[in-house]
Amino acid sequence: MARYKEFHHLLRDRLPEEKVSHCVFVAEYAASLAEKIDVDHDAAVTAGLLHDLCRTEADEDLLRRARGYGLQVSDAASEVPLLLHGPVAAEECRRDLNIPSDSVYEAIYWHTTGRPDLDRLGQLLFLADFSEPTRRFPEAAQARALVRNEGFDAALHFVCEKKLAFQQSKTVVDPNLQAFLIWLRKAYPR
Ligand SMILES: [Fe+2]
Ligand SMILES: [Fe+2]
Repeated sequence: MARYKEFHHLLRDRLPEEKVSHCVFVAEYAASLAEKIDVDHDAAVTAGLLHDLCRTEADEDLLRRARGYGLQVSDAASEVPLLLHGPVAAEECRRDLNIPSDSVYEAIYWHTTGRPDLDRLGQLLFLADFSEPTRRFPEAAQARALVRNEGFDAALHFVCEKKLAFQQSKTVVDPNLQAFLIWLRKAYPR
């Protein structure tokens, strides 16, 4: 039986209301698109609900836990430890919540940056995180319109391009995001 209630309680213990709401909207939006791209509904909801479990952890906690779990801490992540909130959450889902799915692990791990060869569940979470219906920036609505009008792959390209442009306007660009976009253009040409 699905464990959504348990996960929702956990989110409410760990995150402020606005972040809990974001997780629920990501789960719902991802679930609404799952069938279109052959993703398991339960996996989409689970990954959506739990992806930001560690989103409000302090920088030093994220770094300490990432190192404790033996995760790779890139230069970008050392500078911006928030980049570790996905990887640390993925580890906790596996270790503490007994979620054995590698696909859910990978989706949560990479939800911020993506990576080459990310599977459809990971792509779905990456897109839904950016464009769930309560996101306020205009690109979120544009991405949802693209899903409706041109399909999932066109919207995924758009989201990846926008995220990269956003990072480039800041100080740190995660190389995984760049690699993800290059891979997407080859794997799903437009
Ligand atoms: Fe996140
Ligand atoms: Fe998120």
